[in-house]
Amino acid sequence: MIEAFAHPNVALIKYWGKRHEALRIPATPSLSIPLLGFATRTRIEILKSERDEVFIEGKQDGSARVEHWLASLRSVHGLEIPALRVDSSSDFPASAGLASSASGYAALAKGINQLLKLGLGYEALSLLARLGSASAARSVKDGFITLEGNRAEHQSWFAREVASWESWPLGVCVALCSPSAKQVSSSEGMRIGRDTSPSYADWTDMNERLFQTAKRAIERKDFDALAWASRWSFFGMLSVMTSSRPPLTYLNETSFAVISAIEELRNQGAAVFFTCDAGAQVKCVYLPDYEPLVLSRLQSIPGVLDVLRVSPP
Ligand code: DP6
Repeated sequence: MIEAFAHPNVALIKYWGKRHEALRIPATPSLSIPLLGFATRTRIEILKSERDEVFIEGKQDGSARVEHWLASLRSVHGLEIPALRVDSSSDFPASAGLASSASGYAALAKGINQLLKLGLGYEALSLLARLGSASAARSVKDGFITLEGNRAEHQSWFAREVASWESWPLGVCVALCSPSAKQVSSSEGMRIGRDTSPSYADWTDMNERLFQTAKRAIERKDFDALAWASRWSFFGMLSVMTSSRPPLTYLNETSFAVISAIEELRNQGAAVFFTCDAGAQVKCVYLPDYEPLVLSRLQSIPGVLDVLRVSPP
């Protein structure tokens, strides 16, 4: 039995749409930072039986998503993986809107590598994790991580490090704006967006450019440029979501109140920006000196259930 772990991540340049559904090849590159205060831990052991057994937060997983992933690693990728028992649990609230599938598949890929002594490097691990959930490709390593590749070439889509986290440790917190999990999964939301949103083509074009801007901003440690690119990537994704049929409404009134407060702080000169994913929670990224100001402002907003500080202590 081994235990592996991975941190979730938050995308500053979003992935929202696939070029290839089954292989989970994203339509555009994305870029994320790690949420080092949270982790998913996965215990893996070899079973004598024929069937995999998957437990998430102590309960047998009814979705069979991990079993499908394991089956595709065996059949499509030729990995000799025996039947496994997988026990995965995360130390962040499921309602936090932090994709546990990202840290979950990253921890699984790392764990299988360790248990079966496959000797895979992080790029190969990232490719395997991506087949479970594309954002998981960015959770096999901590840092400013991209998921990029050559358009339709599945083998080329894996994580790359733009800069280490230690080289530019930013502050991150999550404002919890809803106690409930999302209604429409990311995979489903992306499918609806690609098939119905009139903004989809513009979004993919724009996001490619924002990705390049964000990479350069990180290389130069230019917080303002990173904030700008990240904000636009979020608004681009939001435009696809809101112009989808049916519209995807993940944000609620409290999320918009938090967004306004952060925009106001930015306009007053504070080095802070926000981003959201397929849920109501708002993630805020800031230069560490601004942490007291950001936390106290968020805590004062009616409707905010909690503010979770997720950058390392
Ligand atoms: C809004 O990685 O959960 O968080 O590949 O279908 O499993 P699948 O989707 P997933 O989508 C994440 C979407 C996002 C943006 C991001 O993390 O880049």
